[in-house]
Amino acid sequence: MTAYLIKGVSVLGGAPTDLLIRDGVVAETGADLAAGGATVLDAAGLVALPGLVDLHTHLREPGREDAETVESGSRAAALGGYTAVCAMANTSPVADTAGVVEQVWRLGREAGLVDVQPIGAVTVGLAGERLAELGAMADSAARVRIFSDDGHCVADPRLMRRALEYVKAFDGVIAQHAEEPRLTEGAQMHEGAVSTRLGLTGWPAVAEEAIIARDVLLAEHVGSRLHVCHVSTAGSVEVLRQAKARGVRVTAEVTPHHLLLTDVRAETYDPVYKVNPPLRTDEDVAALRAALADGVIDIVATDHAPHAVEDKECEWAYARPGMLGLETALSITLEVLGPRWDVIAERMSRTPARIAGLESHGLDPAPGVPANLTLIDPAARHVVEPGELASLSRNTPYAGMTLPGRVVATFLRGEPTVLDGKAVK
Ligand code: DOR
Ligand code: ZN
Repeated sequence: MTAYLIKGVSVLGGAPTDLLIRDGVVAETGADLAAGGATVLDAAGLVALPGLVDLHTHLREPGREDAETVESGSRAAALGGYTAVCAMANTSPVADTAGVVEQVWRLGREAGLVDVQPIGAVTVGLAGERLAELGAMADSAARVRIFSDDGHCVADPRLMRRALEYVKAFDGVIAQHAEEPRLTEGAQMHEGAVSTRLGLTGWPAVAEEAIIARDVLLAEHVGSRLHVCHVSTAGSVEVLRQAKARGVRVTAEVTPHHLLLTDVRAETYDPVYKVNPPLRTDEDVAALRAALADGVIDIVATDHAPHAVEDKECEWAYARPGMLGLETALSITLEVLGPRWDVIAERMSRTPARIAGLESHGLDPAPGVPANLTLIDPAARHVVEPGELASLSRNTPYAGMTLPGRVVATFLRGEPTVLDGKAVK
């Protein structure tokens, strides 16, 4: 195993220091460390963060390996500064058994670029009718702790209550895609002035807020952990704020795209902007940014949703919802929050690692800590070129945009997965 001496790096924005990485851990920190045979990396001007952790990634394997594989998605993640991702269950077959979650977990280990932690489905086939084998997935080699029907809402309140009760035994968490399906039938975009003007069926904010309100009450009643996926409205933020003030065990995520883009993008009819939940309004974006800064929203999660060309480059109504996110999330967050490295580490690494129970991730670089970290050049600006992404898909809404920051290197347990901005394998 190669040792690395990272010279003159700013850990979380602090004064420059050296980091010696050896045998998978940060062996030493301090000024002017001796290389002693380690490979020296000049990191002057770079910022070191704990490796990023994504709680919401769609890897598409098994079933849609043309859109993404565990390996291609892992490479995209590493290039984005991630050392761990949680893989959503809406694959084909659905990750609703121990067999499928173990398969995804094993593929992640074989790729060896990030830790891939499978998420299990809440209901069989994501059909919302019967609970999946939550216990068997939890006891499997994949050690599943997060369960989600993402892409679909667990709409039946009795099933949601049972799921919350079931996972309480092993301190699991139910990650809800909050969408009251009766309120979003046929929806194409956010319901508001723009949908009215375009004549497209709207997805009202209340369809999200009503489910979050119900579920925080259920989580409070059961005493179990709820995580809310991709929060997109100002009203949802207020529901969460009240629930947290009461001590409900609820956490919430926001996506980079909901922090940056609004429903006016739909005026282009370019399906790259079609996503579920949909892009909202300026007021929603402002509320989401404020909630991310003050902690009512706990984390940034990508909802990286790769889609094949034929599923995306078609008429708006027929296009699948979803956008790429892994390779741009850090830059978007930097754009939104500014260089507040401690807040970025909290929202993109420490807290997601804690929610997912990934004990070797989300730890600040310090002696003895597993060397899962990312080095960023905060001064670099880069233009997003879809053709240069490692993802097998091209559905990025940021094509041609100039974004701040660049991931220079990522280390997974002391081994570089990215060096000089390029994937090592
Ligand atoms: O836009 C989305 N795409 N939202 C979801 O909830 C699912 C995801 C997907 O799987 O493509
Ligand atoms: Zn979702």
